[in-house]
Amino acid sequence: MNSKTAQLIVDGHTYELPVIIGTTGEKAIDIKNLLKESGYITLDSGYMNTGSCESGITYLNGEKGILRYRGYNIEDLAEKCVFVEVAYLLLTGELPNPKELDQFKNDMTRYALIHEDMIHFFDHFPPNSSPMSILSTMVGSLHDFYPEMDFDEDPYGGITTATARLLSKIRTLAAFSYKKSIGHPLVYPRADLCYCGNFLNMMFNRPNIEYHVEPLLVSALNKLLILHADHEQNCSTSTVRLVGSSGVRLYPSISAGVGALWGPLHGGANVAVIRMLEAIYADNGDFDKYIKMAKDPDNPYRLTGFGHRVYKTYDPRAKIIKDVTHQILDTMQIKDPLLDIAQELEYRVSRDDYFVSRNLYPNVDFYSGIVYRAMNIPTNMFTVMFALGRLPGWISHWQEMHMDKENNKIGRPRQIYQGIVERPFVVMEDRP
Ligand code: CMC
Repeated sequence: MNSKTAQLIVDGHTYELPVIIGTTGEKAIDIKNLLKESGYITLDSGYMNTGSCESGITYLNGEKGILRYRGYNIEDLAEKCVFVEVAYLLLTGELPNPKELDQFKNDMTRYALIHEDMIHFFDHFPPNSSPMSILSTMVGSLHDFYPEMDFDEDPYGGITTATARLLSKIRTLAAFSYKKSIGHPLVYPRADLCYCGNFLNMMFNRPNIEYHVEPLLVSALNKLLILHADHEQNCSTSTVRLVGSSGVRLYPSISAGVGALWGPLHGGANVAVIRMLEAIYADNGDFDKYIKMAKDPDNPYRLTGFGHRVYKTYDPRAKIIKDVTHQILDTMQIKDPLLDIAQELEYRVSRDDYFVSRNLYPNVDFYSGIVYRAMNIPTNMFTVMFALGRLPGWISHWQEMHMDKENNKIGRPRQIYQGIVERPFVVMEDRP
C-alpha cells in the first residue's frame, strides 16, 4: 500500500489526495473523492491526462516506444507466436501450454460456423455497404443467436464459450461479408486450417480456381493481428469498457467497439493512409503540397498514419510492420508504387521541423495497408482486419473490468455546464 499523497490547495483549503503507483512506476493522483470533499471536479476533454482504470493487460511507454502484453515484449510475441496464442495470453494472463493451445484451436474450429439464418442478413444490406457497419450489426446480433453468456458459469474470466465463439465467428463474418460484397459464393471454414489460414481461404478460395494457402501470408497475417491485439485504453477499448459498464453483455459491447474503431483518427486510419498515398501518387508525387496542407493551422488536413496520442517516439508496431512490408513485397516480387510514396513521405516528414518538434512518427496504420494490398485484401476491409486483431484486447478489458468488483462502476463522466443559467418560459402567441 502506497502512503504517498498529493496536496491540492483550493479556496484556501488543502486536500490530501491518495497517490497510486503502477508496477512500472507510473504515477497517478486518485481524485475519486475530490468532488465530495471539495466541490471540484477535474476537467480533461479527450482524456488527455485521465486514467480510467488500473489494468494488468498491456503496458505501454510512449516515450521509450515500449509495448508489452502481460509482460511480454511485442517484438518477441510478433516473432515467436501465432495470433491465437497471443489471444489466449491476453485473455488468461498466460501463454498456453501445448494442450491448452490445442484445446483453444479446437474451439476456434468448433465455433467457426455462423447460424445459417444470419447469412440471410447479408442479402439485405444495400450494395457497397461498409464492411464495418455490417460487422458491427452482425456482432450485435450474435447476442440473440448465441445467448449462452447468460448460462456461462464464469462469464467474466478467461476463455469462455462466448469469447471463443466471438473470436472464431468474427473471422467467418468478416470473410463472408467480403464474399457477399463481390457476389461470390461463401466459402465455409475448414477444420484442417489454422486461424489465419482459414481466414485467407474463406476470403480467396473460389470454386473454379484452386487456392493454396500461402505460408508466407499466413505468417504475415499472424504478425499483423498480434500487433493490433491490444493497446490499453485506446478509443475503441475504452468504448467497450464504457458500454460494458452499463451491465450490457459482451456482444453489444464489442459491437460498439467496432463502431469506435471505424473512425479515421483510429482504426479507419489504415484506409485513409492508402487514400492519401494514392492522392500523392496521382498528383505526380507532389509531396510538398500535402505536407504544406498538413502544416497549415487553418486547414484540418492531416498526414494520416503519423502521430499518436501516447507515442512520442517511433511506434514499435510500425517498425515491425515496415519490416514485414519489405519482406512480403520482396519475396512476392511485388512492386507497389505506394510503398515508394510512403517511404519518401516518411523521409521528408523525418526531416521537417514541424513534425519532428511535435514527435510525429509513423504509427501502426502507416504501412499496414501496403501489406494488406499485397495480400489482395481490398481497402474497404482494412479496418475490419484491425477489428479482427483487436478483438482479444477488447474482450480481455471487458472481462477485467467486470472482475474488478471494487471499482466496477458505471462509466459516467461529469461536465461543466456553460449554457444559459435559467430563463422564464414564455408561451409563444401562435403556439397551438
Ligand atoms: N499531421 C499533421 N499534424 C499533426 C498530425 C498529423 N498526422 N497529428 C498531430 N498533428 C499536430 C496537431 O495539429 C497538433 O499541432 P499543434 O500543437 O500545432 O496544434 C499536434 O500535432 C498535436 O496533435 P493533437 O491532435 O493534439 O494530438 P492527439 O493526441 O489529440 O491526436 C492523433 C493523436 C493520432 C489523433 C493525431 O496524431 C492524428 O490525427 N493522426 C492522424 C490520424 C492517424 O494516423 N490515426 C491513427 C492513430 S494510431 C492507430 C490507432 O490508435 O487506431
